[in-house]
Amino acid sequence: MDETTLRNRLTDLNLPALRYFDTVGSTNDIALEWVLNGAPDLALVVADQQQSGRGRLGRQWVTRPNSALALSLVIRPTPDEVNRLALFSPLAAVALHQVLTENFGLPVQIKWPNDVLVDRKKVSGILVEVQWEGQTPLGLVLGIGINIAPSAVPPTDQLLFPATSIEAAAGRQVDRLDLLHDFLAALLEWRPQLGSGEFFQTWEDNLAFLKESVRIESGGQQVYNGTVQGIDPDGNLRLLEPTGNEVRIAAGDVRLRPSEGTSTTATEI
Ligand code: BTN
Repeated sequence: MDETTLRNRLTDLNLPALRYFDTVGSTNDIALEWVLNGAPDLALVVADQQQSGRGRLGRQWVTRPNSALALSLVIRPTPDEVNRLALFSPLAAVALHQVLTENFGLPVQIKWPNDVLVDRKKVSGILVEVQWEGQTPLGLVLGIGINIAPSAVPPTDQLLFPATSIEAAAGRQVDRLDLLHDFLAALLEWRPQLGSGEFFQTWEDNLAFLKESVRIESGGQQVYNGTVQGIDPDGNLRLLEPTGNEVRIAAGDVRLRPSEGTSTTATEI
């Protein structure tokens, strides 16, 4: 990847600003700092390699050169969007789901709250961070990592959840820039639908572990076991406990994994 080719490939999207790095600490750090320094809505940061990429819950996210997509998109939320910040992560997941399904015909699912799975293995992680000024969100950074080549996937003993790459799943080479372009185009198309009936329906229709038994750890303390029922209008997961009680779990400090006995390997996310 190089900056000129990247800029040329994204021209028709009319993004207002773009920063490209061969190597960077974390694209989310660059974007968060840029928010403080006036980054416009849809300013984009892309890197070929990250040296201190971050995942959810303080985990590490590895981005090796020439093997993955690592990007952070700045969103300056509109007044309507301010009340729906938690939906940006699934928005990115819904957009990526669409592109991977349409372009490669892959069996793609969205693992609540924010991972994208192919063949029930993780191909993409999403980390949304917000720059606040008091109670006001100045800007949101939508950070997305996508495993393109098999070399993007860390060794199995370093994984908390099974992972794969798009090339491994599709059985062919993937053009990173085409995928980046199509993903951003899909995201821009879906954005006006944030929180709409169609958005929730698409999210729920493609939810991983639907009607399956899962275990959810929240805040490292509380554990829920139950069957996934779907998503509520606030984006919370609806879980039916064995007692017949339905609980709604907010995204945030949570980990979801299949219960023992389901077909996916029961390793922790
Ligand atoms: C997760 O699965 O825990 C989320 C992973 C998010 C990784 C992306 S890569 C681009 C952006 N920069 C980061 O440091 N993290 C996100």
